[in-house]
Amino acid sequence: MYCGEKVKLRAYKKEDIKLAYEYMNDSELKRLLVNKVPYPMILEQEEKWFESLVSLKDIYNFAIEDLETGKYIGGCGINHINWLNRIVTIGVFIGDKNYWSKGYGTDAVRTLNKFIFEQMNINKIKLNVFSFNERAKKCYEKCGFQVEGVLKQELFRDGEYCDEYIMAIFFEDWRNRLII
Ligand SMILES: CC(C)(COP(=O)(O)OP(=O)(O)OC[C@H]1O[C@@H](n2cnc3c(N)ncnc32)[C@H](O)[C@@H]1OP(=O)(O)O)[C@@H](O)C(=O)NCCC(=O)NCCS
Repeated sequence: MYCGEKVKLRAYKKEDIKLAYEYMNDSELKRLLVNKVPYPMILEQEEKWFESLVSLKDIYNFAIEDLETGKYIGGCGINHINWLNRIVTIGVFIGDKNYWSKGYGTDAVRTLNKFIFEQMNINKIKLNVFSFNERAKKCYEKCGFQVEGVLKQELFRDGEYCDEYIMAIFFEDWRNRLII
């Protein structure tokens, strides 16, 4: 559907459930993603989540597919929309760790940003990232996001309180980056 240089953002398919379930039960991934207790997921929960996609309104979830191999490698999408103020909150994960730090996440976020700004008439895209997630922070910076604020001791992880960053990019800055 929406192609970048390395990935395609497409709708989820039933065949993705098995891999999605594996990805979501990887403790390293879960540690970086959830702000609740990183507890294993039950397969039926993943199936229910998939079924719920049909009835979701204004919540767009894309599967991330490697353009070269066609493999489903992760997901990204919009978690929340504020239509009045034209703000969306996004999330992203690359579930196949063989693909980490090779530019796939950056390409997926850039493609998602393009979709949001060009198709949805949104002014601001924001996201949350844990302070210890350096890879994700770098990825978002490469896409033009800047830290807007720090939520102090927002997360209890591995026996310690950790900060969480709020990062954002505005339509105007995104458009200017395209021109430069
Ligand atoms: C975060 C995520 C989407 C980024 O995607 P990715 O494909 O791995 O990242 P990219 O390769 O596009 O960009 C990452 C950059 O960080 C760099 N990086 C990797 N590890 C790093 C570290 N420990 N410290 C600083 N930079 C680091 C990479 O070298 C790369 O920069 P470069 O292109 O200049 O070399 C992906 O790693 C992921 O899904 N991780 C697990 C789940 C997660 O953290 N989701 C985000 C929650 S907010």
